[in-house]
Amino acid sequence: MDSIGSLGLQQGEGAPGCPQEGLPCPSNTSEMECLQQFKMTGAQLRQIQTSLLGSMEQALRGQAGPAPAVRMLPTYVGSIPHGTEQGDFVVLELGATGASLRVLWVTLTGIEGHKVEPRSQEFVIPQEVMLGPGQQLFDFAARCLSEFLDVLPVGIQGLQLGFSFSFPCHQTGLDKSTLISWTKGFKCSDVEGQDVVQLLRDAIQRQGAYSIDVVAVVNDTVGTMMGCEPGVGPCEVGLVVDTGTNACYMEEARHVAVLDEDRGRVCISIEWGSFSDEGALGPVQTIFDRTLDHESLNPGAQRWFEKMIGGLYLGELVRLVLAHLAQRGALFGGHTSPVLRSQGSILLEHVAEMEDPSAGAARVHAVLQDLGLNPKASDAEWVQCVCMAVCTRAAQLCAAALAAVLSRLQHSREQQALQIAVATGGRVFERHPRFLSVLRETVMLLAPDCNVSFIPSVDGGGRGVAMVTAVAARLAAHRRLLEETLAPFRLTREQLAEVQAQMREAMAKGLQGEASSLRMLPTYVRATPDGSGDMGSRGHSMCGAGASSSILELRVSSSWCVWPREVYPWPGVDVRGQGRLFDHIVDCIQKQGLSGQSLPLGFTFSFPCRQMGLDQGILLNWTKGFNASDCEGQDVVCLLREAIRRRQAVELNVVAIVNDTVGTMMSCGYEDPHCEVGLIVGTGTNACYMEELRNVASVDGDSGQMCINTEWGAFGDDGSLSMLSTRFDACVDQASINPGKQRFEKMISGMYLGEIVRHILLHLTSLGVLFRGQQTQRLQTRDIFKTKFLSEIESDSLALRQVRAILEDLGLPLTSDDALMVLEVCQAVSKRAAQLCGAGVAAVVEKIRENRGLEELTISVGVDGTLYKLHPHFSSLVAATVRELAPHCVVTFLQSEDGSGKGAALVTAVACRLAQTTRV
Ligand code: BG6
Ligand code: GLC
Ligand code: GLC
Repeated sequence: MDSIGSLGLQQGEGAPGCPQEGLPCPSNTSEMECLQQFKMTGAQLRQIQTSLLGSMEQALRGQAGPAPAVRMLPTYVGSIPHGTEQGDFVVLELGATGASLRVLWVTLTGIEGHKVEPRSQEFVIPQEVMLGPGQQLFDFAARCLSEFLDVLPVGIQGLQLGFSFSFPCHQTGLDKSTLISWTKGFKCSDVEGQDVVQLLRDAIQRQGAYSIDVVAVVNDTVGTMMGCEPGVGPCEVGLVVDTGTNACYMEEARHVAVLDEDRGRVCISIEWGSFSDEGALGPVQTIFDRTLDHESLNPGAQRWFEKMIGGLYLGELVRLVLAHLAQRGALFGGHTSPVLRSQGSILLEHVAEMEDPSAGAARVHAVLQDLGLNPKASDAEWVQCVCMAVCTRAAQLCAAALAAVLSRLQHSREQQALQIAVATGGRVFERHPRFLSVLRETVMLLAPDCNVSFIPSVDGGGRGVAMVTAVAARLAAHRRLLEETLAPFRLTREQLAEVQAQMREAMAKGLQGEASSLRMLPTYVRATPDGSGDMGSRGHSMCGAGASSSILELRVSSSWCVWPREVYPWPGVDVRGQGRLFDHIVDCIQKQGLSGQSLPLGFTFSFPCRQMGLDQGILLNWTKGFNASDCEGQDVVCLLREAIRRRQAVELNVVAIVNDTVGTMMSCGYEDPHCEVGLIVGTGTNACYMEELRNVASVDGDSGQMCINTEWGAFGDDGSLSMLSTRFDACVDQASINPGKQRFEKMISGMYLGEIVRHILLHLTSLGVLFRGQQTQRLQTRDIFKTKFLSEIESDSLALRQVRAILEDLGLPLTSDDALMVLEVCQAVSKRAAQLCGAGVAAVVEKIRENRGLEELTISVGVDGTLYKLHPHFSSLVAATVRELAPHCVVTFLQSEDGSGKGAALVTAVACRLAQTTRV
């Protein structure tokens, strides 16, 4: 026999021997054969270790193997405790210790070493409750809670509860956990597939005695690990052997496929009880294991591993062996008894007591008699041997599994020699002193490079549950603050309908020339393209309205092609004076190589202009951060013509001035005759549409139509949006160069959304919700948070890790909780923007429908602008809002590519044709 150490582990298939060396087990062949089955060789244990490790790694990669394997469930616990957590917590434990439920009152002092003993009470769960309807089980739990709290000097409000629920669950948050399947003798109906936290909350509410907030749910292994005082190394493994068995450990988050996280660690509940690899476990399974499985509540090829280790099954295995030996005449004088014949009659406690080497034959005898058996004098030794064989095997199997976890840790941390503390919990450890010693020695053999210290959990894991609850309570408080902060951004349908109604009113007033924040400027464009061939005629346009105040964008387009777009940064010189600005524009045109040619030119000028004709436009005021002096109140066509003259280099004939919305509508109108609205959502926002001339007070004529530039960016400048404006909008407005102006635009367009987000982030940081409450200089820098970050952060294809990369690039180091919150802030801000924009479009299309007295209007909207085009959800949110608020309009959105340039060229071409016709 080639055995290792004192444990009776054999290297190869061993010859019969006593299952527990050193113990005086009688030698009788049939008994020996029977016990021999419980012995395992070192090779078998190593095979189990290897197979379990493979199964763990497969599950981490998100691949389900063919055999029921370990589950590797993320627990949302990301770090081991700092010891600074404090407060009073109620802990409810269900499922760790068989048919009982435990309630604890735990006080965390926040001071290391200073402990307040918890109060606790255990309640036995009646069998019919364990197997009855789910609601009955949770009502029972709620009753136990009240009963426990009734005798404590605590208030009935504001109690925070940690729920230790020790069954395999899919967790989706610290307080959300769906039961996958019952184990360990529980089988309540209507609970599998449900969120057990919600079921508990509902029951507590039904009970009605206390207002208790269920803040966190944890597996018993996690509670065990989290409550552990660190030993030689950090305590990063929690091991439970109670009714069932399982372990959790801290895994590198980047290795957990389902998490899509690249940094930090996360606690994984292995759920190794379900490990059932036939190849590895088959050879060590006995006839008794198969019988036990067959007779259990969850038979079949599942949970073999747990059924060989868990305390719920050890007594049963002993009973099956004893019954077998009795039947074969080897024990109890060949008599079986009702005890030996009835399932579940031998409990873990009996096994523990009889297996204890210090218990003499008399003690074993007494236990057997208590069990209603009638042992003979020689039976005691054999029964003790049976108990030891069953428990030794359990401890060795458990060691093989723990060795697999240690190998996993060595591998993932790239550490050959590992120093680690394992927190142990559960009655098998507490009551079977030998279990730990067998476990420890076998682990030393299977994982010789690891220096493992085993540390018993504090308060049976209750303290750890309280720790997690404390962290969860802090996070929940943060979430409440986040929700409160974002609540004003979440607009109801009624609020949006009100925006639409106010916009309609402002449009009507503006058209009538009454005081209104909507200027409703006539554009002298009287028709959308009719496809008569104007596109073929020579028209050129130049767009001089930039993406921001620091850039002049120049695009030269003809009606048949677009020159590559050129972007000119503002020169270092002072271009604030009007002369200089327009000289600069002409210089840029010359750089495009257009000098010397006489070209009809359309000037896309994307600012509010009062037009008296196609080629006249008085700039009413700058928007979008432009601020060149002495331009407001001037005809910008004249200013451009003067600059052309001054430069003498180009012969350009400015024939039309065109707002970008109008250009966009016109170019899309060429493709789709239904396109009668132009929309821009870029640096700024604005819309134009075809209005009936009879409604336009400032232009003569009652028939026909005219395109109206609404200049809706200014909507609300009369205070009508103040109900919706948040403190963050006020900050952005105040810091802008035009406070009080363009209030609608400042809630919607690209120039401002990043700034709104930045102000919210600053506020959340000051509340301690974000970035651990640490303000950074970077975040206080204006415009540091670009609107394009919203588009990137909200992009579905980019995971949270990208959010983090973006923010870290900004010098904002953050946790994954931070990243999630920043994402939510961006979503709230851009959603509000899109919905407000949608409410505006709804007002415009409904006006057109009513103008025309139609039951239903089919219409298209030409759209341009970087925010609309680049943001992953903006366009669909606009469309959804329009569908909701203008149900009688069928609206199609068409995106244009430099549409405004082509459209302006088209307007120019038409103007030239008309001029020629008039001349003729
Ligand atoms: C461009 C149009 O595509 O979009 C411009 O040609 C328009 O006329 C612009 O002003 C608006 O978008 P942004 O994002 O550049 O302000
Ligand atoms: C069972 C449960 C598991 C628990 C273990 C120990 O295996 O499925 O969640 O941790 O028992 O109680
Ligand atoms: C600003 C301008 C407006 C323009 C819009 C989109 O709101 O005032 O004229 O159409 O930005 O560029």
